[in-house]
Amino acid sequence: MVFSKQYTKFLALGAVWISTMGVLADSDFNWDTLLPSTKLNWKPCYSGFECTRLIVPLDYGSAAAGNASIAITRYPSNSSKSDYLGPVLLNPGGPGGSGIDYAVAFGAEIATILGDGFDIVGFDPRGVSYSTPTVSWFKSDAERALWIPPTQDIVYPSVNESVYAVARQWARAQVQGLFAEERAGGYLQYITTDNTARDMLRITEAFGQEKLQYWGISYGSVLGSTFATIFPVSVLDMEAWYSANLTAQGLDTDKGLQMFVDGCFAAGLDDCAFYAPSSAQITANLQTLLDSTKTNPVPVNTLFDSLYSASSFFQVLAEGLADLAKGNASTIYTAFIEAPPFECAADSNSTSPPIPFHENAFEAYFSIGCNDAVAVNDTVQELQKFYFEAQKVSNFGEFFAYWRVMCSGWKVHREGRFTGPVGAAKTSFPLLVIGNTVDPVTPIAGANKTAKAFPGSVLLALDAVGHTSVNAPSACVHGYLRQYFVNGTLPEAGTVCTPDSPLFPSSTGNSTTTSGRRDLDPRLNLSKAGRAIGAAQRRITRN
Ligand SMILES: *[C@@H]1O[C@H](CO)[C@@H](O)[C@H](O)[C@H]1NC(C)=O
Ligand SMILES: *[C@@H]1O[C@H](CO)[C@@H](O)[C@H](O)[C@H]1NC(C)=O
Ligand SMILES: *[C@@H]1O[C@H](CO)[C@@H](O)[C@H](O)[C@H]1NC(C)=O
Ligand SMILES: *[C@@H]1O[C@H](CO)[C@@H](O)[C@H](O)[C@H]1NC(C)=O
Ligand SMILES: *[C@@H]1O[C@H](CO)[C@@H](O)[C@H](O)[C@H]1NC(C)=O
Ligand SMILES: *[C@@H]1O[C@H](CO)[C@@H](O)[C@H](O)[C@H]1NC(C)=O
Ligand SMILES: *[C@@H]1O[C@H](CO)[C@@H](O)[C@H](O)[C@H]1NC(C)=O
Ligand SMILES: *[C@@H]1O[C@H](CO)[C@@H](O)[C@H](O)[C@H]1NC(C)=O
Ligand SMILES: *[C@@H]1O[C@H](CO)[C@@H](O)[C@H](O)[C@H]1NC(C)=O
Ligand SMILES: *[C@@H]1O[C@H](CO)[C@@H](O)[C@H](O)[C@H]1NC(C)=O
Ligand SMILES: *[C@@H]1O[C@H](CO)[C@@H](O)[C@H](O)[C@H]1NC(C)=O
Repeated sequence: MVFSKQYTKFLALGAVWISTMGVLADSDFNWDTLLPSTKLNWKPCYSGFECTRLIVPLDYGSAAAGNASIAITRYPSNSSKSDYLGPVLLNPGGPGGSGIDYAVAFGAEIATILGDGFDIVGFDPRGVSYSTPTVSWFKSDAERALWIPPTQDIVYPSVNESVYAVARQWARAQVQGLFAEERAGGYLQYITTDNTARDMLRITEAFGQEKLQYWGISYGSVLGSTFATIFPVSVLDMEAWYSANLTAQGLDTDKGLQMFVDGCFAAGLDDCAFYAPSSAQITANLQTLLDSTKTNPVPVNTLFDSLYSASSFFQVLAEGLADLAKGNASTIYTAFIEAPPFECAADSNSTSPPIPFHENAFEAYFSIGCNDAVAVNDTVQELQKFYFEAQKVSNFGEFFAYWRVMCSGWKVHREGRFTGPVGAAKTSFPLLVIGNTVDPVTPIAGANKTAKAFPGSVLLALDAVGHTSVNAPSACVHGYLRQYFVNGTLPEAGTVCTPDSPLFPSSTGNSTTTSGRRDLDPRLNLSKAGRAIGAAQRRITRN
């Protein structure tokens, strides 16, 4: 048995996605019209896609726990049977990201990159969105909307808000843990990464294939590494995810901010509105601005948010900051905070979420993450200390530390679940791991570690700022991806790609870098496909 293929990056973080997750694919297709089955019975759906629902056991150890149904969609291959190369399963990260939304948003672009021999397959991991049971623990839309932090507050409450912030966040975590345990029923313990890895094997087998081909972004690499660990041979190491300690994920975050400062200085006033005559001056101006808006965490959240997709946002961020310094907050507000305010439903009698309920990224995020991790029993004082330690690693330490705090109230942990270590002496096909040199939430050290945990795999570095390679489109990377999926060829160890666009594109029109470009076939226009994927990624995960 078992495994082949590709990974992008290490862990995901960030409640950055919460509000807009799942808005892409919801209107066009009623999943209830599909009868779940142990076979793939495809029905047309969305535009040019096919959908099906696959029955899997909730508990792979016992039929008594009942079944789950996994929502699956594919952008079908066009090739003849003899040229068919099988399904490529996608995972957009999160955890809790909808693979259905992801595939519908850019399955066609992925097909452009990989060629038409593959079925491009999105699925909602168990517990997520259109897969049932869908994790839910709120009694109504209103209760849910009141509980979920406003989108500009990635960490809520901010630890910088007051000395009581950790304690308040801890209290929230206890309440959330109780709600989840009491209201999400007996199924919650089965919503874990190891079970989703087993589901991926079921999906692959339902396609009549033996080996998984996989494209995973961010948390998607945890899922992929877990799969590769469970199904082939054996052992090595990856602690952060399974120990609820994401502190080390902030290693390169401050470097990302420095790239903003240095890039702005290099670009000059024409191309960077927040320009000042030295990098040090830009840093000082930024600090002054942050200090002056201390009571309002929006700028800090915005900075963090824009580090995710620097290539699209640095220039806009510079304009927003420059206007903010002049007392005009509207530029930064409109550029980064677009979620509509919550409105109460007309039917005030409603006591349950509307059916079908599927925009559950928030619930799925904590369910999968905290179900996977060790039980966190830290006291408030210990968590406070944890927060301060994280702040030593990065100025954005709170964005990483809050994960452990939120898992500290979680009560559900399935006995016998996989908790690492991740790695395998031998996979049936070497993995391709891609890491950005400056990734604000999944530092390249993690990608390096993953590559080492699977001997024979290769780390392809992308010399870019941003969260995962999809946020810094690179025809070079896409050329290697195609070669890998189609021919099984890995890049040479030590290969470094560059992104297609600079951080601060020049207003004089020369916005494309050429070094490192590797359009294997210029007719494919991999740069264009890459930009489309990056844009869709941001729409889905608000990265
Ligand atoms: C779960 O699915 C299997 C396979 O279709 C079926 O045999 C079994 O009866 C189902 N279990 C329940 C509780 O519905
Ligand atoms: C299949 O062909 C259609 C029509 O030519 C095209 O739009 C689509 O992208 C192709 N699908 C794949 C997977 O290449
Ligand atoms: C706020 O953040 C700054 C920068 O990381 C840190 O120095 C400071 O101690 C924090 N304040 C509180 C109350 O945590
Ligand atoms: C969390 O990870 C950081 C960095 O890897 C480490 O320094 C720290 O000791 C860990 N904390 C706990 C509570 O495990
Ligand atoms: C603030 O900036 C926006 C552009 O982002 C502009 O439309 C608006 O007029 C400015 N407001 C003031 C008071 O200058
Ligand atoms: C709420 O329920 C009551 C009693 O069933 C009904 O009379 C009323 O019309 C309902 N309100 C709405 C907004 O549907
Ligand atoms: C946390 O508490 C639970 C229940 O008391 C215990 O089983 C578990 O081992 C503890 N976890 C740690 C990391 O101490
Ligand atoms: C990966 O690890 C190796 C060996 O520890 C080191 O030489 C290399 O610089 C690392 N690469 C990156 C991109 O971190
Ligand atoms: C795959 O290998 C064949 C034969 O060596 C070559 O012609 C083709 O260009 C390769 N395709 C890719 C995408 O690398
Ligand atoms: C754009 O920049 C590249 C690399 O710096 C340079 O080779 C090229 O001549 C420039 N093109 C124009 C139109 O300025
Ligand atoms: C690729 O797409 C871009 C953007 O649509 C376009 O400007 C460029 O001309 C295209 N290149 C090729 C080779 O088709």
